[in-house]
Amino acid sequence: MAKCIGLGVKSQSEVAIIYRILNTAIVEIEMKLTPEQHAQFDKEGYLFFPGLFSPEETRVMVEEVPRLYSRQEAFNVREKGKDVVRTNFAAHLYSEPFAKLARHPRMIDPVEDLFGEKLYMHQFKINGKMAFEGDVWQWHQDYGTWLNDDMMPTERAMNVAIFLDDVNSFNGPLMFIPGSHKKGVIDAKHDLTTTSYPLWTVDNDLIAQLVQRAGGKEGGIVSPTGPAGSMILFHSCLVHASASNLSPWNRVSVYLSLCAVSNHIKRHKRPEYIAHRDFTPIECLPDDGLLNNYPVDLPWAKGLQASALVTTDVPFDQVQKAA
Ligand code: SIN
Ligand code: MN
Repeated sequence: MAKCIGLGVKSQSEVAIIYRILNTAIVEIEMKLTPEQHAQFDKEGYLFFPGLFSPEETRVMVEEVPRLYSRQEAFNVREKGKDVVRTNFAAHLYSEPFAKLARHPRMIDPVEDLFGEKLYMHQFKINGKMAFEGDVWQWHQDYGTWLNDDMMPTERAMNVAIFLDDVNSFNGPLMFIPGSHKKGVIDAKHDLTTTSYPLWTVDNDLIAQLVQRAGGKEGGIVSPTGPAGSMILFHSCLVHASASNLSPWNRVSVYLSLCAVSNHIKRHKRPEYIAHRDFTPIECLPDDGLLNNYPVDLPWAKGLQASALVTTDVPFDQVQKAA
């Protein structure tokens, strides 16, 4: 029988001790959220787990990033007018450390717990936000883009951020408007010009209202900061943004978008390396997956398949009927 532990830990040192024990324990472990965490997620729209991955686990991923960013491929989107990478897409399909992260129970289990259902990977990004060069992410909800572009039926998808660098108030941390997920999908416009990456963004007046309602200067915007290895789970309707990085410190973070299998997208308007088309439920590796040798499938190890670039405006069930 699986052992369950709560993720209701408070300090980084507590987390580090627990995971050192877990990494040596030969038991099947299922990470359940506590009732308090369920309530907090419902109220605020996010949960923060400082130092969830150990420095050794984080290093395995950090060391892989320069090799991925150096590739001249469509899946590396560079900052507007610059050579530095803004976003690397789909590394879990061609990089072993990230394929292992994509199957990690510390991330998958709590999201399965929240949705009560198996998950597939809708999107996988490694955002650079490099020192001096990293550009803004405008205010937006991710589900707005997934609905408008990908025809994802409902908001039953979760964002997970994992810090690969320490995140502080200077290197462009994520900013959230707590509770804004309760508004559901809000008006957005397709911004094709501000940065190198198109995004459905929310206008400033609406942001000002949402911040005011969330507490104004008293907590209307929050920014979880912490050491490399920290994880944030945030609701797909939570309104978020980040400023540019004028500091001398990189802020590389992995973002995984985990979608309930029953809620899979209905259209392939964006290339497959941005919005995935394999709805197979994720099966987790053991908890020591990042540090030990487990075989993982790397279907794009030799490069993107041509089919991954094919897109259509027509919902795919209609394409299938016509074929
Ligand atoms: C995102 O919203 O998808 C990324 C935000 C960030 O990297 O700051
Ligand atoms: Mn986002």
